[in-house]
Amino acid sequence: MRKKVIIDCDPGIDDSLALMLALSMDELDLLGIVVTAGNSPVEMGMGNAGKVLRFMNRLDIPVFRGAERPLKRPFVNALDTHGPDGLGGSFLPEVPESEFVRQEKDAVTFYREILCGQRPDTVSVISLGPMTTLARLIEQDPEAFGKIREIVSMGGCFRSHGNCTPVSEYNYWCDPDAAAAVYRETDRIGKMIHMVGLDVTRRIVLTPDLLTYMKRLDPEIGGFVEKITDFYMEFHWEWEHLIGCVINDPLAVAYFVDRALCSGFESYVQIETEGDLARGQSVVDSMDFYRHAPNAIVLTEVDTEGFFRMFLTKLLRLRETPDLLADLCRR
Ligand code: BDR
Ligand code: CA
Repeated sequence: MRKKVIIDCDPGIDDSLALMLALSMDELDLLGIVVTAGNSPVEMGMGNAGKVLRFMNRLDIPVFRGAERPLKRPFVNALDTHGPDGLGGSFLPEVPESEFVRQEKDAVTFYREILCGQRPDTVSVISLGPMTTLARLIEQDPEAFGKIREIVSMGGCFRSHGNCTPVSEYNYWCDPDAAAAVYRETDRIGKMIHMVGLDVTRRIVLTPDLLTYMKRLDPEIGGFVEKITDFYMEFHWEWEHLIGCVINDPLAVAYFVDRALCSGFESYVQIETEGDLARGQSVVDSMDFYRHAPNAIVLTEVDTEGFFRMFLTKLLRLRETPDLLADLCRR
């Protein structure tokens, strides 16, 4: 049976790759895309979701406007990382209003209607941006939030360093109050968030070799990926002397479909909301100091080659594992 899912994102370069992967998977029934302010301001993120849907020939998927700013903190986008248009400066043409299923209904209403219209525990959420819209859902309708089957969240870090402060990952840093609220509520209702944090996503590096390989196998899709990741590769070189770019968000989609790709441990997680020094830090009680039941599965190990096998075969619709993959993942 196809897994019903909503993707809550902030496209964003790696969000776009995650959407492309999700749209290539027969295992998923993508009910809608929620766009929350994060990498890009909401309007730009909605437009970028439309550009990805057009490229994938899936303009039938509805896109909903989520929260425009964090709950309490001033909004800080990540266009320095994702380019002036949020898609690596590719400046792809906008999708005309007439072709785009951009919904009038706001995202919280969409969440409420879809979650309450289904049997409990049938719809999951893959959260790839700040958790502000989900936190608004908790404020307005905690019962609907409680009906979410699973939340897979790209966010946070355990042993890894952060990516926007020494200890914090961007999605939780951008709106720490929202992330804290989602972890708190998940704890209250006795469920668990799958935390796909930097410990695992930093091991997903799209290298120039892998990209060249993708272009060889499928010039159109590979060319699109190149267009939107070129800037991101430059950014990684300038910032951390990495050849390639860390593509965080597609791992959350891949893991949602195949749990064997990541492993970790259950723990109680809280998100720091105060001050600036540790703002947004995911505090993982791995030593069980608090003797508190776990509210998260913290992923720490990842099968990188397995991820790229899925990414390439699904996205490029290959019949078998591409032969050079193992070699390219080892380099
Ligand atoms: C996360 O922040 C964003 O820049 C990426 O899209 C990803 O969701 C990584 O910290
Ligand atoms: Ca994102």
